Amino acid sequence: METTARLTSFTASELEAIGNEFEDQPPQVVLRWAFHQFHPEIALACSFGAEDVVLVDMIVEIEPAARIFYLDTDFLFPETRDVIERVKMRYGIEPVAYRSLLTPEEQARLYGENLYWRDPDRCCALRKVEPLQRALAGLRAWITGIRREQAPTRAHARLIEWDRKFGLVKINPLVRWTAREVWSYIKEHHVPYNVLHDHGYPSIGCWPCTQPVAPGEDPRSGRWRGFQKTECGLHA
Ligand code: ADX
Ligand code: SF4
Repeated sequence: METTARLTSFTASELEAIGNEFEDQPPQVVLRWAFHQFHPEIALACSFGAEDVVLVDMIVEIEPAARIFYLDTDFLFPETRDVIERVKMRYGIEPVAYRSLLTPEEQARLYGENLYWRDPDRCCALRKVEPLQRALAGLRAWITGIRREQAPTRAHARLIEWDRKFGLVKINPLVRWTAREVWSYIKEHHVPYNVLHDHGYPSIGCWPCTQPVAPGEDPRSGRWRGFQKTECGLHA
């Protein structure tokens, strides 16, 4: 694989072919390629869940000035805010927060109270998808922590793909990893993680839409429980 040439653009099939060549390599190899190609027009979308703290740990070794952002929906758990602070301290980084254009109070005035329990798609559009569009403006690539085994909607995710919805390259370095591999990495490297993971929350989003799951249950079944919804619109 020729990794020295820095190209300005790729076709979707070129991206897939490059991803296929990296398929058996460790995530750090694809991350190094990604930063070589796209830095500084590349960023990690970090929810501070287990996968994303692993990616932070890997990325700071590769590119200490990497852009890292999070979508602060104003409905994050206190435990999520706590791990954000611990990650900042540990790695000396300053992740950038993107918020909705509406405060929760403005949203309640315009759309009524508890929109998240009546129309979560609308709430996610206002508090996650629109802020993500702003976060990705001007970038050529973004990095996410999605894994194929997380959900049927993610089973066909590629290591490197063209994100048609947002119009840039999407890199999913942990796409082939199992939950066990994520946790082995966290333990081995003493990576700070969200303590809710120790209390029945394998997948953590906003507090109104995230519940604990029983052992053996689908790890994402605590997200938007009671709704057909399984994705918030970040991952088409
Ligand atoms: S979600 O779409 O259902 O919320 P999930 O929690 O599994 O997604 O996270 C998948 C990936 O989406 C994360 O690894 C991260 O890259 C991105 N992501 C999800 N939530 C956020 C957030 N609040 N801020 C930044 N990135 C996020
Ligand atoms: Fe709103 Fe729930 Fe979506 Fe968060 S996950 S933006 S609270 S609907």
